[in-house]
Amino acid sequence: MANGKENEMKCRLCGETDLQLVIDLGKLPLSNSFLVSPHDPEELYPLRLVFCPECSLVQISETVPPEKLFSHYNYFSSMSQTMGAHAKDLVGKTIASRKLDEHSRVVELASNDGYLLQYFQQAGITNVLGIDPARNVAQVAIDKGVPTLCEFFNEQLAETLPKADVILALNVLGHVPDLNGFVRGIQKMLKSNGMAIVEVPYIRNLVECCEPDTVYFEHFSYFSLTSLINLFKWNGLIVARAKKIDIHGGSLRLWITHPTPFPPHDRYGVEGLREREVQLGVNRIEYYRWFPVQVDEMLRALKAKLLALKAQGKQIIAYGAAAKGVQLLNYLKMDSSVIDYVVDSTPAKIGRYLPGSRIKIVPPEQFGNPDCVLLTAWNFSAEIESKHPEFRGEWIMPNEKLQPTMEYA
Ligand code: TYD
Repeated sequence: MANGKENEMKCRLCGETDLQLVIDLGKLPLSNSFLVSPHDPEELYPLRLVFCPECSLVQISETVPPEKLFSHYNYFSSMSQTMGAHAKDLVGKTIASRKLDEHSRVVELASNDGYLLQYFQQAGITNVLGIDPARNVAQVAIDKGVPTLCEFFNEQLAETLPKADVILALNVLGHVPDLNGFVRGIQKMLKSNGMAIVEVPYIRNLVECCEPDTVYFEHFSYFSLTSLINLFKWNGLIVARAKKIDIHGGSLRLWITHPTPFPPHDRYGVEGLREREVQLGVNRIEYYRWFPVQVDEMLRALKAKLLALKAQGKQIIAYGAAAKGVQLLNYLKMDSSVIDYVVDSTPAKIGRYLPGSRIKIVPPEQFGNPDCVLLTAWNFSAEIESKHPEFRGEWIMPNEKLQPTMEYA
């Protein structure tokens, strides 16, 4: 690492071994391994982001076995109205644009608790299937009548399933260790005239809006459009359309098809977005050089602000035991001497303690009367603030660049 290169691993997309260090975030616990007691022992792993000069993929250098990360998941998509509205809107648009009817088959990969597929069912499209490896969330989906397979999706599983008109994969690609196998699975399971819809957090938001808290062990890969075009092309599919969307601090939505004899037209956003990436140099290591400097400045400023408030006798709490909140508090080296507790509405998290910082998680009813609230789940800031209209103190965003609804050129 002394020469700024990470040589211990291969790029999970193209196999290149000469990977270049973007940022070293230190040794950290798994961000979704909530503690039962504040004295529980924890395993720490090195968290480093590296860039592949061959295919432009950014990835973490350490791969924790997926069974450790995803077999029991604490994240229930239905908990957030923002996600519900996002899903409902996408389902409505997909049914209309793909002209889906009762004969259509829709499969969702990483279907969580069925929060999205239920909208297809309500619209009369009942031939749906969810696939999710986390038993506890898959069971919730099954209990509410959404057929769900509790498995990791891959090429082998795809071969055993009927082909689909629409395949959805929202916020899952970054969690997949074998990217090529996963996309080959999509390629095999997609009907010849079918459409896959894929959403991923966008690397430009991570870098340009300074979101280091979105880097954690469950997220193996961080995507530019350039790297995604390579991923799909190398596995027999094309990116037919691409669009920036606001969800999760800034994401890309892609529409994926089998190759067609006619190249997709420019108006579908792919070329424009890709050209902008080339102008900015997203496909070169230089683009990432200032990121660690920005992160350092951001963390210093936030820490100084929180410590100054504490020194004035203010009570500070955090809102959102999100993985990104766990990361932020660990990067800041904050514990309950500064942040009294964290509010979160997820039943599986309430009563537990954040990994690393060991701050207690309480339900929204125990919001209390703090002076300041650090919005650790800043991507849901509007929804969270609307749930506490009585609060007269200060909502603190981790940095002023984080404006979840911001458009940028
Ligand atoms: P999220 O940002 O979706 O995920 P990640 O773990 O990938 O960073 O997590 C949001 C967290 O915020 C989740 O634990 C639920 C919590 N939350 C609330 O407690 N109340 C709310 O109103 C909302 C929208 C989220």
